[in-house]
Amino acid sequence: MSIEQWTLVDRYITDALVAPDAALDAALTASEAAGLPGINVSPNQGKLLHLLARVRGAKSILEVGTLGGYSTIWLARALKPGGKLVTLELDPKHAEVARENLRRAGLAETVDVRVGRALELLPALAQEERAPFDFVFIDADKQNVPGYFDWAVKLSASGSVIVVDNTVRKGAVADLSTTDVNVKGVQGLHDKLRSHPGIDATTIQTVGSKGYDGFTLAIVG
Ligand SMILES: C[S@@+](CC[C@H](N)C(=O)[O-])C[C@H]1O[C@@H](n2cnc3c(N)ncnc32)[C@H](O)[C@@H]1O
Repeated sequence: MSIEQWTLVDRYITDALVAPDAALDAALTASEAAGLPGINVSPNQGKLLHLLARVRGAKSILEVGTLGGYSTIWLARALKPGGKLVTLELDPKHAEVARENLRRAGLAETVDVRVGRALELLPALAQEERAPFDFVFIDADKQNVPGYFDWAVKLSASGSVIVVDNTVRKGAVADLSTTDVNVKGVQGLHDKLRSHPGIDATTIQTVGSKGYDGFTLAIVG
């Protein structure tokens, strides 16, 4: 098995189950043209986020790590009528590209793109009426994942869903002697989940066009 095989299968799944969409396609094209890294979720992963947020019946979504807004569009389209999404992004250029992609998708009024270090932006959200969020997607730098998860829980209510991306890291999550700060970040998440009263979670390994990784799904009790 190889990434070529996983990519072929991702293409097959996307052809079969992810309808072509002008705004999503344009978001990827514009992000690439602006020189953003191609580290967005794949189309079938984007659809999974969309379906999970719909299953949750989300009216308020928080995203940590916007990039060009590709996953943001998938999530914002899952919102119940009148719902809102707040997304946090460190890089002003990424945020600018995302705002344009969201405007093109007709989501400028639905999505609030905030620029800065997420760990500095999250405390402000706690003071606002935006919280609690009923769905949180964490997809920024991995070394701060434990801190993002703590804030996600603080900004959640009973029944809120938290999804954290890239939590398997080519299997390195199981290497207890690692010195990689990103791997330590996702291990820190698992350490929290191991002993967190009232939060139920699992991590699923995935392969696909983005390689071998995985995601963690948690429900706040
Ligand atoms: C993997 S990309 C997000 C991809 C996006 N969720 C998608 O699938 O379309 C991670 C993003 O997090 C941003 N980021 C990195 N460190 C951050 C921080 N400390 N605070 C907020 N955003 C950060 C990066 O600039 C990058 O745009």
